[in-house]
Formats: sequence, structure tokens, C-alpha cells
Amino acid sequence: MADRVRMLGFAGSLRKGSYNRALLRAAMEMVPEDAEIEVFELDGFPGFSEDLEDEPPQVVVDFKAKIRAADAILIATPEYNYSMPGVLKNAIDWASRPYGDNAWDGKPVGIMGASIGMLGTGRAQYHLRQSCVFVNMIPLNRPEVMVSFADEKIDTGGTITDEHTRDKVRELVEALVAWTRRLQTTA
Ligand SMILES: Cc1cc2nc3c(=O)[nH]c(=O)nc-3n(C[C@H](O)[C@H](O)[C@H](O)COP(=O)(O)O)c2cc1C
Repeated sequence: MADRVRMLGFAGSLRKGSYNRALLRAAMEMVPEDAEIEVFELDGFPGFSEDLEDEPPQVVVDFKAKIRAADAILIATPEYNYSMPGVLKNAIDWASRPYGDNAWDGKPVGIMGASIGMLGTGRAQYHLRQSCVFVNMIPLNRPEVMVSFADEKIDTGGTITDEHTRDKVRELVEALVAWTRRLQTTA
């Protein structure tokens, strides 16, 4: 079993003031001593094309190497039009290809999300969980971290001002570390 659990985190938002990137930063502050989180920014990915998958762009090569080096994945997703944003789905698609070279295979994953709506990315998260089935990521079921009305809980500087939201992020990170260790023991 690895001494430290190394998590790779990324957000499905490229927005500078993103609430989801704020969740990731909070997760980094709350990570237990026996774990670490590295964040990958999803900018610079071209739209996926099967014509390019055998010689992918450098950003994809780097992303897949980071995924493979990580013990677990942590995703913070916004909700766009009742689903996950295209940048997130595009990155998942790139790293799953070409067929037989799926970097996600068997990776534990924790999922959280923040939106300004009342359902706090629930619909996006269930679409994301559906994609996890095919790429064989192994999602943590609970806690579900669905931050609704994010503009009232995260300030313009990206600080989570709502104590309950901070607690849920901490709970998720700790549960993901435990989930990863549990899967490593049974591997
Ligand atoms: C294209 C688009 C679609 C959106 N659709 C939804 C939606 O379905 N549900 C929701 O709660 N918020 C929706 N929103 C609002 C997002 O919750 C809000 O923009 C949020 O700040 C995005 O996350 P971020 O702060 O991490 O960028 C949408 C925003 C955009 C730009």
C-alpha cells in the first residue's frame, strides 16, 4: 500500500472565479497528512477527434501520465444545461482513448460540485457517474457534495464562507483517502 495517497484533482470549469476551482483549493487545504492533491487545469485541450487519438497533443500525454501516477482522482464539476460541462467530458474522452489505453481504468474517484442553482450539480454528477461506468473509474458513493446557491456560500475571492460546505469537502477528501486505501488492500 502506498505511504501517501496521491490524488489528482481537476475542475470542469475554466472560469477564473470558478466556485468549483474554489472547492478544489479548499480540498487541498483540508487534505489529511497522509495524502496530497495535485491540481491539473483543463485548459488547452483541443476538441477530441478519433483522427488524433493515436498521436495525441502534449497536454493529453501529460494528463494521462498524471492520472496514471495518481492513486485517486478528485473531480469538481459545475452543471451546464443539466449535465457536466463539455470541457470535463472532453478531457474524460481524451484520457480514455485510444481503445485499450484508458488511463482511468480502476481509479478511485471522488466527485463534488457547486452551482448557483438549487440542485447543486446533482444532475451533472449523475451523468458523470454514468461515464465512470464505461471508463471503469470507481466512484466513492458518499458523501455526496452538491453545493447549491454557491454564490451565497463562496465569496468573490474564492473562500468558502459556509461552514457546512467546508465540512462536506473535508468529509469527502477523508472518505476518498479511506476508499483508495480500501481498494488498494483488495487489489
Ligand atoms: C452554459 C451554462 C449552463 C448552465 N446550466 C446550469 C444548470 O443546468 N444548472 C445550474 O445549477 N447552473 C447552471 N449554470 C450556472 C452555473 O451554475 C454557474 O455558471 C456556475 O458558477 C458554474 O460553475 P463555476 O463557478 O465553477 O464556473 C449554467 C451556466 C452556464 C455557463
